[in-house]
Amino acid sequence: MATSTKKATTNASVGQNEKETKKYDHEEVKVRRVNFSFDKETPRFYYKNNPFSTHFINTLHILFPTGERFFVNATLKHQKAIKDEKLKKQVRNFCGQEGIHSSMHERFWNILKSGGYNFQGYEDHIDFLLHKIVTKIEIEGTKINNIDLVATVCLEHFTALFGHAIFQHIDVTPEAAPEDIAELFQWHAAEEIEHKHVAFDVLNLVDKDAYIKKIALMPIVTAVLYFYLGIGTTILMYQDRKRLELTKLPKQFYEFATGLFTELHGDMVSDFFKFFKRDFHPSDVNDYYLAEEFFKDKAYA
Ligand SMILES: [Fe+2]
Ligand SMILES: [Fe+2]
Repeated sequence: MATSTKKATTNASVGQNEKETKKYDHEEVKVRRVNFSFDKETPRFYYKNNPFSTHFINTLHILFPTGERFFVNATLKHQKAIKDEKLKKQVRNFCGQEGIHSSMHERFWNILKSGGYNFQGYEDHIDFLLHKIVTKIEIEGTKINNIDLVATVCLEHFTALFGHAIFQHIDVTPEAAPEDIAELFQWHAAEEIEHKHVAFDVLNLVDKDAYIKKIALMPIVTAVLYFYLGIGTTILMYQDRKRLELTKLPKQFYEFATGLFTELHGDMVSDFFKFFKRDFHPSDVNDYYLAEEFFKDKAYA
């Protein structure tokens, strides 16, 4: 746990000094009270003026809230099985972090709705798939159980890798993206790196067949994730069909494919496959320094 060089006190001013000297500890999985608001004048194609890249990011804004509620539910249902106080606290804070991620991305939906986009059907479909189907997959007397938690572990591997890429490869300069959106994704990325081991540790604790389930489900989760990322991007592109210039689309797609999409997968190939090693643990990808570096000068850290 995080340590402080000063003795704990209730005095507010000394508490502030303590905050300044407190060391970053990724195992603390700290819930940070952020409060993002987004510019109502956000350009329609806010990422490098590219509709493909922007709608790929918008699809993430739409997927995160229901996806993260699914992660929380899948993990929390095993709360009673956790005896270790440290893991118990990490689970609580993991749920706290994911809850705030959900609400901040959902806040961006107002910008999308005021832009005339209708994604309710898509969101409802994902919500139904996760909360009404995947959550309920269980066949008594067989090893087909805990599928929601296994899927969470697989998806958390992706969010950690995407988070890594946001700091290492993706262009988040003010020239590329509005600063509020760039910071939202960087804050989210830093916390994904910080809590990447929590659902993994819970699954290992509650399921003796965790390894085989993880490697069996990961290819399916990967295919489903990219399928729905593609569907979401396509739906939003279609709703913009009257605003797009047909002749520019091939170049714009090329820029998306070689730009944002390639950057997102920067270190991914080798780190993705580490997941299939029997002794893999998310902390093996030691990139906590990226989160530490990001939080260094943030008032909400
Ligand atoms: Fe998250
Ligand atoms: Fe997460």
